Amino acid sequence: MRAHEAGALHGDIGSRGPAWLRTPEDVNALLPGLWPRSVARGADGAVAVAGLSVRDIAAEFGTPVYVLDEADLRSRCRDFRAAFPTEDVFYAGKAFLCRAVVRMIAEEGLHLDVCTGGELATALSAGMPPERIGFHGNNKSVAELGRALDAGVGRIIVDSFTEIDRLTALALERGVRPRVLVRVTVGVEAHTHEFIATAHEDQKFGFSLAGGAAANAAFKILDEGVLELRGLHSHIGSQIFDASGFEVSARRVLALQAQIRDARGVELPELDLGGGFGIAYTTQDDPATPQDLAKRLRKIVDSECAAENLAVPHLSIEPGRAIVGPAVFTLYEVGTVKDLEGIRTYVSVDGGMSDNIRTALYDASYSATLASRASTAQPMLARVVGKHCESGDIVVKDEFLPADVQPGDLVAVPGTGAYCRSMASNYNHVPRPPVVAVRDGQARLIVRRETEEDLLALDVG
Ligand SMILES: Cc1ncc(COP(=O)(O)O)c(C=O)c1O
Repeated sequence: MRAHEAGALHGDIGSRGPAWLRTPEDVNALLPGLWPRSVARGADGAVAVAGLSVRDIAAEFGTPVYVLDEADLRSRCRDFRAAFPTEDVFYAGKAFLCRAVVRMIAEEGLHLDVCTGGELATALSAGMPPERIGFHGNNKSVAELGRALDAGVGRIIVDSFTEIDRLTALALERGVRPRVLVRVTVGVEAHTHEFIATAHEDQKFGFSLAGGAAANAAFKILDEGVLELRGLHSHIGSQIFDASGFEVSARRVLALQAQIRDARGVELPELDLGGGFGIAYTTQDDPATPQDLAKRLRKIVDSECAAENLAVPHLSIEPGRAIVGPAVFTLYEVGTVKDLEGIRTYVSVDGGMSDNIRTALYDASYSATLASRASTAQPMLARVVGKHCESGDIVVKDEFLPADVQPGDLVAVPGTGAYCRSMASNYNHVPRPPVVAVRDGQARLIVRRETEEDLLALDVG
């Protein structure tokens, strides 16, 4: 065993982590592309966002805390708007939704997708113009659909024959003509770098293209004439880096568009290609820019429309993760550091799977840094874990942290804006952390911390 300045247990024993993870030359370096754009280390070595030190954020709001770089989020909205100037960009609210974020994306000219009554209520209460809201979901209730109609949402993405009947009845009752898209299961399942053209029909979302249900749904809506069929919708997955999945999807969905034209003489004016654009969680990930995506998607749609002799429909996309994911990091306080001789070092923080379920749920990879100070210690391979009663309660599976990391230090995990707070739970009765937006050196609470009183208030027994 080689001597190590932080002790034998920090040496090159045990797991070396995944092959892609390199020992950093500078353990204090903030890897480019992973952090919100205004994040840098201050003169004292602590991480700062928009000029505000994480030490100040922790002192004022406590930990764990989700820290949102507001300018970063807004700039990602602008990047998408600039790349898709004639298209509609729907922010997928499921990634993270609260009223402040609704206002930010509305001010930046985006539309908004919701998929439950709760998300719809949040959007409306923040003043999102209803005509800019799209309503998704495979099991929207009658009450939810009724609310959407009463609010005047811009479009409803229908997902089943039952839903078409429900919505038709509600529209007739109200004397309205809701605009709808048909969600098509195109038979492409995309995950990160790969897409698999089998086993895709076996899922709960949408109408199958291959089985003919998608065409029948479109025919039913057109023939009944109660709902206004605006177009087709396809969403092929999440955290996608390879545009070839979109290519296959666009080709198939535009072939259906041509089939509908040939059968009913109607060219649907809209096409939604969904979201799922990947972001960088670690150095393994190399996401495309919105400009690249726009170029590729337009090229695909233009050439497929030319091949099918179709007018190019009005396009929309639905990025969630790519807008909010990189704009947020989670700040934790270290509680214990446990060296398991010959195995690995566990750094326990004051949150865990209740504020970030993605590692346990999807085997997701994250990065982390010692945020409250810079260190001169050697890099040490660590696993950042939470405080929950599950051995799978892992926040960051493998990361190099300075070997002198200790209780009381703050550790920050970037890329936690999407599907972390929105999927947070109260497991082990751990109250969910707050969300703090930072802009021009000022921090503002946008979602407060849950308290034990909140938890007990629901427990009426
Ligand atoms: C229909 C639809 N649109 C958009 C999204 C957003 O995906 P992402 O946040 O990966 O961009 C999802 C995510 O599940 C989705 O189901």
